[in-house]
Amino acid sequence: MKEAGYDLAVFPGDGTGPEVVREGLKVLAALAEGGPAPWHVSEYPGGGQYYLLRGREWEPEAEAAAHRADAVLVGAVGWPGAQLPNGDLAGRALILGLREKLDLYANVRPCRLYPGVTHRISGAYRDVWSPKNVDLVIVRENTEGLYTPARGRLSRGGETEVAIDTRVITRRGAERIVRYAFELAHERPGGAPEDGARRATCVDKSNVLEGCRFFRETFDRVGREFPEVERDYAYVDAFTQWLVRNPEHYSVVVAPNMMGDIITDLAAVLQGGMGFAAGANIGVDHAMFEPVHGSSPKHAGKNQVNPFATFFAIEQMLRWLGRRHADPRLTGQADRLERAIARTLADGTARTYDQGGTVSTSGAGDRVAARVRAEAG
Ligand code: IPM
Ligand code: MN
Repeated sequence: MKEAGYDLAVFPGDGTGPEVVREGLKVLAALAEGGPAPWHVSEYPGGGQYYLLRGREWEPEAEAAAHRADAVLVGAVGWPGAQLPNGDLAGRALILGLREKLDLYANVRPCRLYPGVTHRISGAYRDVWSPKNVDLVIVRENTEGLYTPARGRLSRGGETEVAIDTRVITRRGAERIVRYAFELAHERPGGAPEDGARRATCVDKSNVLEGCRFFRETFDRVGREFPEVERDYAYVDAFTQWLVRNPEHYSVVVAPNMMGDIITDLAAVLQGGMGFAAGANIGVDHAMFEPVHGSSPKHAGKNQVNPFATFFAIEQMLRWLGRRHADPRLTGQADRLERAIARTLADGTARTYDQGGTVSTSGAGDRVAARVRAEAG
């Protein structure tokens, strides 16, 4: 427990990032009312728009603050036309760079459909997913796989031009991510909605790819240390159907980097859309939290996007800090925030446009902040 409080480095970033982060900080401030806050917030600019303005993605002090902080919160990065000289996304330093440099190996994306949230599948299938059958966590490997920075082009511009990306799966990388998944499957209360089983599902393409065979072998080897957790398997292509048809079967899903990237966006549809999808990027000594929807340029500056993903990201952040530092103040605040979010969603008073509502981003933030005040700590 850190008596003096935790340092939170906040990077609102691009587009709608600052709009949702503003609401997140509003809710965080409401949690801290009536007592000394157990955290200090420092905000730093950075990202693609900053790059267009200043010619760098962020300042050295900002990067140092991210490395020093007890936890990092990032809004969103990416802006049309903002590219580094090598063609990479300007702003990548804040997300991909931190994942690499802070060795944030586990990308943990909970997917739960809360009562009161609707999803945007029309017609007869609309009610197939309910809060009773969508409650899983996708654990995505976050430091290697197809995101390994070993890529390039040959004969640029010529007839024989070739582009290469290399997918690297290491023993260490695979082992630590599957271990994370098994530990989570062991401790998740309730298990899979279908049958309450403690279940870990390995999603891969091991019928074709060598790296995936290695990933699955590692899953089996580490999994034997967790006899109480059922080992379950899915090829990634089939998984996309099964997730949509039978989400209740899943509790914890683990996947290599790029496959995890794709299936988490699919899973977001089940939880009400990207407006609700939050992710934690977790390492040994560091962690970064983010809404995963991106900077949504076409909605930027309109105060209309859904800020709930940021509230969930903050909840994950408080929970991680509380656990890492064995600090019941933070765990208690995470529980309180979750109750406030769940009640606000259930009563439908903070529906933004994506939910068919008319509430603004700041209006939704006001509702959740008010709920936080009403929920005793
Ligand atoms: C995500 C995003 C990022 C990724 C982008 C913004 C680089 O899609 O966090 O899922 O590909 O990992
Ligand atoms: Mn993604």
